[in-house]
Amino acid sequence: MQQKIIILDFGSQTTQLIGRRIRELDTFCEIIPYNKFPKDDPNVIGVILSGSPYSVHDPEAFQVDLSQFVGRIPVLGICYGAQFISHSLGGKVEKADSREYGRANLQTVDTSNPLFKGFDQHSQVWMSHGDTITAIPDGFQVIGSTKDVKNAAFTNSCNSSNSLSKIWAVQFHPEVFHTLQGTQLLRNFVVDICGSRQEWSAASFVDSTVKELKEQLGQDRVILGLSGGVDSSVAAVLLNRAIGDRLTCIFVDHGMLRKNEFTQVMEDYKGLGLNVIGVDASEKFFTDLAGVTEPEQKRKIIGRDFIEVFNEQAKAIINSSSSGGGGQQGAVRWLAQGTIYPDRIESLNITGKVIKSHHNVGGLPKEMNLQLCEPLKWLFKDEVRRVGRQLGMPEHLITRHPFPGPGLAVRILGDITPEKVRILQEADDIYIRGLREYVDTDGVTLYNKVWQAGVILLSTIRSVGVMGDERTYENPVALRAVTSTDAMTADWAHLPYDFLAKVSNEIINKVRGVNRVCYDISSKPPSTIEWE
Ligand code: XMP
Repeated sequence: MQQKIIILDFGSQTTQLIGRRIRELDTFCEIIPYNKFPKDDPNVIGVILSGSPYSVHDPEAFQVDLSQFVGRIPVLGICYGAQFISHSLGGKVEKADSREYGRANLQTVDTSNPLFKGFDQHSQVWMSHGDTITAIPDGFQVIGSTKDVKNAAFTNSCNSSNSLSKIWAVQFHPEVFHTLQGTQLLRNFVVDICGSRQEWSAASFVDSTVKELKEQLGQDRVILGLSGGVDSSVAAVLLNRAIGDRLTCIFVDHGMLRKNEFTQVMEDYKGLGLNVIGVDASEKFFTDLAGVTEPEQKRKIIGRDFIEVFNEQAKAIINSSSSGGGGQQGAVRWLAQGTIYPDRIESLNITGKVIKSHHNVGGLPKEMNLQLCEPLKWLFKDEVRRVGRQLGMPEHLITRHPFPGPGLAVRILGDITPEKVRILQEADDIYIRGLREYVDTDGVTLYNKVWQAGVILLSTIRSVGVMGDERTYENPVALRAVTSTDAMTADWAHLPYDFLAKVSNEIINKVRGVNRVCYDISSKPPSTIEWE
């Protein structure tokens, strides 16, 4: 039996982080819409109620029937989750005089309560709420207060002898970095209170997934779209481990990959023993993108063209297998994708607001009747990397930065032409090579220190420069490098000035068409990682 913690999602931006923190405790968890609690799943050992953009008093506030789990498994409410528990069980939630946001310290904390085991007095916590809990329900007791928030943590566990009826609620966010002992609190809940055996690991994932894939796929053949990125590569190697050459991979070059990337990645894949068909479809993409300047429109065209090219290849494979070309092997019945957990959560966002469309989810060719196989769909990015290492994949593939599906197209402001792509590829190559070569004082390369980096061609802007005795009127480029753990939030990387100086010089000297280099110092939010 695989134990799991259920996180009921009430729409907070930090719900995913709760999931990540729990996985870091080697415990499996699922993030589920607030109204989809799996009542009949015997493997659930605890439930967490997340924060929410709503107030419990909003008419459209998300509601859940607590009796589905209270009394059966331990419950932890966080922020809105805490307010909802209080509001539902007879306490009182009111608008705070001023929005409570940011750092606070626990002035009192009951370290004899299992939730706060090992806590320091005055431990720093992170608050973010507009409502405040002015009265807690009968039978509950306050176990943590800050200067401004008396009911910062409360529980009925002191009065209840039945450990399964126990409820804890915290007004602050233990999942965020700024709650300094947040991981300790989650460990106390997940391990000590819920009894997690902490058995979730990369090795156990590989063993059980290979076994499941063998059972699920039998003699069927599978097609998978490779992108050169970590996710699809790890999915391919995992499937290859399960079904060998019954997996056929398709790698489409849309013409907007990094310099030489297509050739290099094809070689890597062959070295891994994967059966890969590489397709150069760049002409089609360039033709269809000509003159298009609107970012979402570019994404849609690339998504559509990608699916068309992919489907054509997939059809050819299916036809050859059904006409006997597949030898002893079964029919092609599956489309595999390297979808990971954050992709699905972003596209299933319960508040229904799409911020950007990501083309790697959806687009399943319906007429081909293929079923979807997504072996990494429960994993976060860092877990995918651990699985890749477990599978013995080369480190440069595993540590590769994320790269957007539409490639350099979303890093060229305005319309796309092959010439602009070439200019950007040259500048990007200098920057990325520089990051790989620069070893910082702690022995780690800048490339491995940042989450993601790239160059943006500001082709809608021209700036004046002077080279030799001549005046130039060319495009600026912006360098972007961010640190992040999941791309949901990101900070600009504080790259050394000597490195930036060297890269700037090299780009301006070597890349014709660029006469100015800027460094992007915006974090996400409010900016995004990509410029489009
Ligand atoms: P943003 O720009 O939203 O990016 O902060 C977050 C992460 O997603 C990547 N990204 C994309 N990936 N298709 C993709 O497959 C896309 O259209 C797309 N847009 C952004 C981005 O590179 C970063 O890792």
